[in-house]
Amino acid sequence: MRTRTLVALPAAVTAALLLAACGGSGDDTAASEGGVQLVTDGTLTVCTNPPYEPFEYEEDGEVVGLDIAIVNEVATDLGVTLTTKVTPFEGIQSGADLNTNNCDIVASGITITPERQEKIDFSDPYFDADQGLLVPEGSDLDSVEALEGATIGVQQATTGETWATDNGLQTVQFEDLGLQIQALKTGQVDAVVNDIAVLGPYVSEGFEVSANFSTGEQYGLGVKQGNTALLDQVNATLERIREDGTYDDLYTQYIGTAPMTSETAS
Ligand code: ARG
Repeated sequence: MRTRTLVALPAAVTAALLLAACGGSGDDTAASEGGVQLVTDGTLTVCTNPPYEPFEYEEDGEVVGLDIAIVNEVATDLGVTLTTKVTPFEGIQSGADLNTNNCDIVASGITITPERQEKIDFSDPYFDADQGLLVPEGSDLDSVEALEGATIGVQQATTGETWATDNGLQTVQFEDLGLQIQALKTGQVDAVVNDIAVLGPYVSEGFEVSANFSTGEQYGLGVKQGNTALLDQVNATLERIREDGTYDDLYTQYIGTAPMTSETAS
């Protein structure tokens, strides 16, 4: 449209034309997909913090994993594509990434905690987690008591860090799991605490999981507080994939075993 044409038009018509040119939403900060506001038109943007295999990790230059596969199902149900943004876990769990519109959703093996619920709206839980201890093979660090006086590598702003601090252990903070493992390799730390499900991939690298601390955590996907349209869609997708078998297939693909049911658990 040429500005020359606009000048000749009455104000009301001009406003209507401008609205139409903007997609008719009248809201230039977000696009709308079936009532769901997205930070970028036509795409669901997810913030995540790899390496965190099997939930989010890089493969052939792409971030893949159970979390990514699940949010991809949400994107599919919304009729949009998925865009993955790698960000520090600190801003993911604090609500900062959501509040600054860096992303629409956070999916990063995030444990639902009461503190985080004050800043993020969480979906229904989709995975159960406990803390685990990774040590060099043959280490005798295998209990909270044995860890007294040892140096523990923790991931910044995680429940593993809270667990270690609550138990009075001496910790060194790392920004991600990769740096935690690196510090264990170089001997900067004696042991590493993180969610037990992500420690498995390192067992073949000369480490062992020497203890399991049952914290009874549950993972949720997070959206900006008050974004009920998106939250409802996320929960609807979680319900759909539980019912149509997609969740079980993805769980088997990424976790390696079928999910526990009340039958297998008893
Ligand atoms: N579940 C733990 C928490 O919520 C650790 C999650 C870390 N996630 C990640 N992708 N690095 O605090």
